Amino acid sequence: MSNSTSAPRKILVTSALPYANGSIHLGHLLEYIQTDIWVRFQKSRGHECHYVCADDAHGTAIMLRAEQEGISSEALIERVSKEHQADFATFGVAFDNYHSTHSEENRYYSELIYTRLRDAGHIATRDIEQMYDPVKGLFLADRFIKGTCPKCKTPDQYGDNCEACGATYTPAELIDPVSAISGATPEVRSSTHYFFKLPDFTDFLKQWTRGGHVQSQIGNKLQEWFESGLNEWDISRDAPYFGFEIPDAPGKYFYVWLDAPIGYLASFKNLCERTGIDFDAYWRKDSEAEVYHFIGKDIVYFHALFWPAMLHGADFRTPTAVNCHGFVTVNGAKMSKSRGTFIKAATYAEFLNPEYLRYYFAAKLTSRVDDLDLNLEDFAARVNADLVGKVVNIASRCAGFVKKLGDGRLSTHCVEPELVARFIAAGDAIAEDFEAREFGRAVRKIMELADEANTYIADKEPWALAKQEGREQEVLEICSVGINLFRQLMVYLAPVVPAMAEQARQFLQLESLAWESRQDALLGHEIAKFKPLMTRVERDKIDAMIEASKEDLVEERKLKEAAKGPLADDPIEERISFDDFAKVDLRIARIAKAEYVEGANKLLQLTLDLGGETRNVFAGIRSAYAPEALEGRLTVMVANLAPRKMRFGVSEGMVLAAGNDDGIYLLSPDSGAEPGQRIR
Ligand code: 2FM
Ligand code: ZN
Repeated sequence: MSNSTSAPRKILVTSALPYANGSIHLGHLLEYIQTDIWVRFQKSRGHECHYVCADDAHGTAIMLRAEQEGISSEALIERVSKEHQADFATFGVAFDNYHSTHSEENRYYSELIYTRLRDAGHIATRDIEQMYDPVKGLFLADRFIKGTCPKCKTPDQYGDNCEACGATYTPAELIDPVSAISGATPEVRSSTHYFFKLPDFTDFLKQWTRGGHVQSQIGNKLQEWFESGLNEWDISRDAPYFGFEIPDAPGKYFYVWLDAPIGYLASFKNLCERTGIDFDAYWRKDSEAEVYHFIGKDIVYFHALFWPAMLHGADFRTPTAVNCHGFVTVNGAKMSKSRGTFIKAATYAEFLNPEYLRYYFAAKLTSRVDDLDLNLEDFAARVNADLVGKVVNIASRCAGFVKKLGDGRLSTHCVEPELVARFIAAGDAIAEDFEAREFGRAVRKIMELADEANTYIADKEPWALAKQEGREQEVLEICSVGINLFRQLMVYLAPVVPAMAEQARQFLQLESLAWESRQDALLGHEIAKFKPLMTRVERDKIDAMIEASKEDLVEERKLKEAAKGPLADDPIEERISFDDFAKVDLRIARIAKAEYVEGANKLLQLTLDLGGETRNVFAGIRSAYAPEALEGRLTVMVANLAPRKMRFGVSEGMVLAAGNDDGIYLLSPDSGAEPGQRIR
């Protein structure tokens, strides 16, 4: 199927639609870059491949955000769409169409799919009770209600679970619940909701899951969901809501997640109308075209259950595959606004070349669902060593000699036909890796070839030969081989680093770097003057980007404070789950001994008694406490912190203290607490 000599395939590809109320960040970019590389590869192979996306424009969050900003929802989504598209263009993500779910095409397909499902008996209605904000005149989703936990009495808990004790409950059970939007006390009101009867599709979905449409890790997850049973899905929301009204239900709107994936159809339809592609050839039930959705692991339920069921129930074909990726971590941890590792696309691009990131992501991507760590040290080292040190180096070592000795023309015959033939042949295995989304494996193979090319040039030492009289032709021939090898590498790298490839194409004066074009060696071919194709990653630019990302957070806080709306307290990514918190083993400890540490002007060495067991801990509290004042005192320690090797010895835990520029305050329990007691 991936054989480029077979007939062109018809392929439609999508990435998840970003919400129209937030900026694109590096977490998003992993997906768009992964998809874009795959699409560019398919196009390079000569297939008919269309890549569509859109902004996900509906829902309460967008409506409220627009209200906070004092503009209409339409104006907000218009502005954000422009920002998103600019970010995508900066990163070389080349959609064939970028649309919006707030579009006529999307209204049409949402209504069509809904009415077909309804007419086939797959829609149910029933009344449900929900919290209602009488001041705003709005039903409140769980995350917009806060109150005191009915179990542990911690105030300011959102929705249906307590972050302090982990209890789950209905929002109605919260003590003194208030609307996070208006502060009003919510009322319980009943209203009719519309449900998609997902259980009708259980057998179909089980079969679909076994049909090779999802990765094995996802198949296992789906299996768990089947075992716990599928539920009907609430697809309606009451007015006021920014979305599409349900045809036969005035005042009821499609829930944003109902019309979001239909946005894939809508965007494609819009492209078809503009360019004359046959929409039905891709979407009718017996279509032979291929349809791929690239998504993150957090939205599998929507794409591997609701979406194929909706399509099937409404007489459309289902996706060929849903390709799922993991999350991006930075330096081994979740992206964090306060650490400056929550990096927006635009902030990154102010400091660093987007192609560095494309290359790094490609080098680390597999076809699996695992998370991908952007380690900034490794990022710089890898880009510098591979792209600059290996690939660009080949061209820069050879171009000058071709210019000087061949007047810009490569030699008319190839002195290393076998070497060049091997580089050409390697393209088949590399293509298989790209096809299978094993980009890391493809990149490794390409870099092995780059190593070979460099070894060839280093062994031949054209620069030394050039100093010897009468060997000019030989030098030209060696360097012409080098340029031919460089050309092969750029064909293979073009889907990954398209901007660099475009410059290489101009330097090589080729019409294209399409996959099959590599078959003809360049003989007697004229090349242009060489310009550096990529510069090294500078570490201080990375630091500056981190600092700027911290600034982004400050700006955001100011805006949110000014707005004082529900989004003001939405630092969701800074929260940890109850499970994460529960991993921390906090214990009462008695400071059995405290001593100065020679050569350390901030540290005290503490011997902590945990009721039998003792621990050695170095604590940075010397400025605030004399050792003798601490001995015998109780405090709180983290007992399961991994031991840390320090210059003075191993620290086996951490004591808890509050602190600022003015002082340090060690925590102590109330009297009665015993060394070793667990804190819960
Ligand atoms: O999770 C998200 O960001 C959603 N906006 C993705 C929607 S994908 C598709 F279904 F539209
Ligand atoms: Zn609680």
